[in-house]
Parts: sequence; C-alpha cells; structure tokens
Amino acid sequence: MKEKLDSIKCAALESIAAARTSADIAAVRVKYLGKSGEISLIMRDMANVPKDERPALGKMVNEARGDVERALDEKGAELEAQEKAARLKAEAIDITLDSDGHKLGSLHPLTKVRRELIDIFAGMGFKVAEGPEIESDLYNFQLLNIPKDHPSRDMQDTFYVNDNFVLRTQTSAMQARIMTVSEPPIRVVIPGKVYRSDDDASHSPIFNQFEGLAVDKHITMGDLQGCLTTFAKKIFSEDTKIRLRPSYFPFTEPSVEVDVTCSMCHGKGCRVCKGTGWVEILGAGIVNPAVLDMCGIDSKQYSGFAFGFGIDRIAMIRYGIPNIKLLYENDMRFLAQFN
Ligand code: PHE
Repeated sequence: MKEKLDSIKCAALESIAAARTSADIAAVRVKYLGKSGEISLIMRDMANVPKDERPALGKMVNEARGDVERALDEKGAELEAQEKAARLKAEAIDITLDSDGHKLGSLHPLTKVRRELIDIFAGMGFKVAEGPEIESDLYNFQLLNIPKDHPSRDMQDTFYVNDNFVLRTQTSAMQARIMTVSEPPIRVVIPGKVYRSDDDASHSPIFNQFEGLAVDKHITMGDLQGCLTTFAKKIFSEDTKIRLRPSYFPFTEPSVEVDVTCSMCHGKGCRVCKGTGWVEILGAGIVNPAVLDMCGIDSKQYSGFAFGFGIDRIAMIRYGIPNIKLLYENDMRFLAQFN
C-alpha cells in the first residue's frame, strides 16, 4: 500500500514537472486529486487495511495529497503567469504608430450663411418658419397677386408638377401661407430651397432663398430700409451701405431692388461689382394691400414689408465663389476649404 502510494506520488510529481501549460496542470489535478483520481481511489482501499494501521496510512495519504496539491499550485501559478505575459505581448498595440487620422467635417457654406442670417434676424425679433417645396399654385402665385395666365408668371421659369402644383419658385409662397393663418403683428423669416428652370454660372435649377415678412400697424418703407441696413452691415461689414431702386413685383407695391456697396472693393469699383461699386442682392417692397386682403388681413388697418434674396448669392459674395454650381456638387476639394 505504501509503495503504491509512493509510486503514484512520484508519477504525479513527474507529470507536474513535465507540464507545459495550465491546461496540462488542470488535467494532472483531475487525474490524481479528482473524485475518481488515483490518490482519491486509494482511500477506498483503506477498507482492506488492518484497523490499527489505518491512522498511519491515512496520514500518509493526506501528506501525499498535500505535496501533490502544493506542487500543482506552484507550477500552475508559474504557467499562468507565463501565459498571461505571452497573451499581453500578443495583444499589444503599438501606440507610437501614426494613424491615418480622422478628417473633421465642416458645415456647408450655405448652412453657415443660413445660420448667420437667422441669427441676425432673430436679433431683430423675427421668428423662423419653413414650408413645403412642392407648393400649390395658390400660395406660390395666386395669393401673391399672380393670377393664372398673367404675364408676370414669365418672370420665373416654373417647374410644374401638374396644373395645380409647382416646385416652389420663391419662398414668397410662405408669405401667403403665414398671412392666411396668422394675425398681425407678424415678423418672420423663411429660409428654404426653391426651384427654377434656369442654369448658368450664377443660376442653378435649385437654389436657396431667404424671405422676410413683417406685418403690423404703421409699417413703412423706412422700417424696411432700417431692417435691411442692419442686415447688410452684419452680414458683410459695418461700413456697408444699401441703396433702394424702384422695381416691380406683383406682391409688393411699391417694390424695390436693393443694392449693397461691394464688399470686395468697399464701393471703389472692381471685377465683382463690374466697376460700379454696387452689387444687387435682393428684391423687396411694401406688401401689396391686395395681397393682405386676399390673405385675410385688413389692409386698412395693417401694412407690411417683405423681402427675399438668394442665400447662395450672399455666400458667393462673402466667400468669393465664382460659380453657383460649386455649392451643389459636393466636391470635397471645395467643401474642405470651409473648415
Ligand atoms: N420672391 C421674389 C423673387 O424671388 C423676391 C421678393 C421677395 C420680392 C419679397 C419682394 C418681396 O424674386
């Protein structure tokens, strides 16, 4: 019995010494100390041992068990440490290596200018509204004093969806929408996409307009002029001046076209302003009383001003962009310049 125990213990210690991985150690542990491991089984043989020899033998078995256990723990810890070190080495990331870098996106120039415009007009008490791009003929034309078959429709080359719907040609459509559902005082600006069948270096079939509308008691051309002067100084520069020239729009009466002093040459005359010192930027006027009445606002009590301009045009002047197409082509070489 004692020899058997010794030879088991020796075999166990040899296997432990030979173990190369922590999995080997686990297998050895099961083989000798597990429920039906060799050292555990020897205890069962105890029944065949004379009673008086049992305590001494029991002690020997326990000692052998303890020796094997200690050897397993020691070698196991050693192997686990080695394995962990190997794993960490294999998973190591070389943080000194250059990455490709993450390219930062930037706001589109039209977004930048639109946000700035909203900021300027919010500072003068205007709210912001948006409306549909597929618009009914009623709001885009009729309520703006442009009846069907009226020659003034030729001012805008319209994309018709069908007889009654168009791709809106002007954010002015929102003037009609807002006036038909609200009571004065009204102060609102409307940024948005508009569409016209027009295509050259300064015209794109899709472009962005910025509309303004104020309706209240005693609104005059002086209010329009003051509002637009503030806008021009803020969006261009403090020394910017504006001038109003008589013009015609069916929905404003009187109507004006508004020029600003050229922000490139500050009025001296250059390529951008074609030597005149002035750049035309918008259409505006006093809301035609007929439009107020059609939209359900009493023109005897109230008056208003309205203006509209292209956000694209402001961005082109602001950043010296020569062709409106650049704003719609999504060419990264162009857009990355606005970082
Ligand atoms: N809607 C006009 C255009 O697109 C501009 C405008 C707006 C004129 C408001 C007067 C008042 O040309």
